[in-house]
Amino acid sequence: MKKLFTVILLAVMVLGASTAVFAARVGVAMPTQSLQRWNQDGANMKERLEAAGHVVDLQYANNNVALQVSQIENMILNGADILVIASIDGASLGTVLAVAKEEGIPVIAYDRLLMETDAVTYYATFDNYMVGTIQGTYLVEALDLENRTDPVNIEITAGSPDDNNARYFYQGAYDVIKPYIDKGIVQVPSGQTAFEQVATLEWSSERSQARMDNLIAAHYSDGRPLHAVLCSNDSTALGVTNSLLGAGFTKENFPLITGQDCDIANTKNIIAGYQAMSVFKDTRTLAEQVVKMVEAIVNGQEPEINDTETYFNGVYTVPTYLCEPVFADINNYEELLIVSGYYTREQLAN
Ligand code: BGC
Repeated sequence: MKKLFTVILLAVMVLGASTAVFAARVGVAMPTQSLQRWNQDGANMKERLEAAGHVVDLQYANNNVALQVSQIENMILNGADILVIASIDGASLGTVLAVAKEEGIPVIAYDRLLMETDAVTYYATFDNYMVGTIQGTYLVEALDLENRTDPVNIEITAGSPDDNNARYFYQGAYDVIKPYIDKGIVQVPSGQTAFEQVATLEWSSERSQARMDNLIAAHYSDGRPLHAVLCSNDSTALGVTNSLLGAGFTKENFPLITGQDCDIANTKNIIAGYQAMSVFKDTRTLAEQVVKMVEAIVNGQEPEINDTETYFNGVYTVPTYLCEPVFADINNYEELLIVSGYYTREQLAN
């Protein structure tokens, strides 16, 4: 923290005030612009940090780990006081983070935990396990798994194995569904239920589409019904939906598809009846929480934390602030997404 203290001291001298909020240079490293949510995360954070008087260096790394490392190196070279990082591969930034620690630069892990390092100071995210619980619970209710006597067929798609969040989403959902698999009321005709079998590298829509194509060809080409596909997020849901449409599924026999993020394309699919639900994680809420964290750190205070037990990163349990994710479907999307000003009606028009 020595560098930060120098900044604070200088600011006190310049401003001549002991109660001033100090302007910090904040490096914000985001994984990719190819997914809508990260553009919103980046834009929201930049806007809020700048409104609070800070200087923001916002970078996107095109899902390229080496590029993200060099972007963070540059942020440090350019005098960053604080780093906010949404990693591509949570375990791949150890060396550059060690430099940040050496320089006394606090690091906030944004949305995705930074793994195998003691250089991460705080973590802010949505309750990732709860995201999965919401998806699993939705399927239990929508398919009436408690009361039905005839089995349903489902398939499972999960997220990227290098993203620590992916296992939480998967596990949250699987823990809800598993008792019904054990009872035989839920069947998974592909037999693929383990995380490693259902994961999707880089959360890629193309990869989830290709895997679904294979599953349909191998297990559903004889007309066997498919009642639901549990997808961890919207980019994988999009691939699955495209595959199903390509294979000739129609509204009459379309499986229930779960998702996460309320991306525009997926919200349009919800409106059109091709995706059953999504989990809304308002990026404005997370950005606001991270801005509060930055402000607290810059002012030498302890940021607000509400979880000190869950997020062990392989080295230590990182103090975390968890925001609450919200269920979204055709019945509440207007209020959640349009009335709240997250999207305009035009953005969701087909
Ligand atoms: C985020 C999700 C997102 C996924 C793919 C995860 O780490 O928490 O909101 O859908 O990455 O970008």
